[in-house]
Amino acid sequence: MILLLGGEKSGTGKSTIAVNLSVWLANAGIDVLLIDTDIQRTASQFIERRNQRNDLAKVHCIEKRGNVFNTVRDLSSRYEQIIIDAGGRDSEELRTAMVASHLLYCPLKANQPDLEPSAHMNELVELARGLNPQLQARLLLSIASVIHETEQSLIELPQFSLSSIMIREYNVYRDAMSDGCGVVEMNDDSATAEITALALEIYGDHA
Ligand SMILES: Nc1ncnc2c1ncn2[C@@H]1O[C@H](COP(=O)(O)OP(=O)(O)O)[C@@H](O)[C@H]1O
Ligand SMILES: [Mg+2]
Repeated sequence: MILLLGGEKSGTGKSTIAVNLSVWLANAGIDVLLIDTDIQRTASQFIERRNQRNDLAKVHCIEKRGNVFNTVRDLSSRYEQIIIDAGGRDSEELRTAMVASHLLYCPLKANQPDLEPSAHMNELVELARGLNPQLQARLLLSIASVIHETEQSLIELPQFSLSSIMIREYNVYRDAMSDGCGVVEMNDDSATAEITALALEIYGDHA
């Protein structure tokens, strides 16, 4: 399956979720490829730190810019799972990745006032579905510091459903990122539990 972490805002946790899911899959013995399409290189730099250690399950990562469609579809026949990390803006990478993917997760930072994803993101999904009718799109509350009520505005976006999982704000996400680890490798029960729940929501019995 091709999973895309995308959206039109930066700092919403896309790269953090992408790398944590790929580490979760690698630890489950699943062949996963992380594709970094963001010039900020957050996921690639994470993998560079991870590769300096020999004690961790290997995660493959490539970088691809511009039109990523052919690369993504070609590589999806060679890996069990593909996870794409896209930058936080409307771009050729985001649009072509949406056409190549089966599932889009759009994390929204839960404690910021402009929680509402733009109507434009909804239009991008609609556009992508014209070419890729199987694309499913879900909103995911992330970096949540308090118990947030599900906002009505979220469920009003017609092209999206809402994930039943919420990613909370825990320091271990930042610490793990700088160590080249996933939170599942950090002995943190709370963060491990939510990443595992998210992985099971996405991969179900396939992982
Ligand atoms: N659940 C979380 N709890 C705490 N900090 C987080 C969490 N998710 C992300 N962060 C931090 O927030 C910042 C932005 O996260 P990042 O994943 O790079 O966002 P994006 O890829 O959407 O731009 C980073 O400093 C990251 O360490
Ligand atoms: Mg990022």
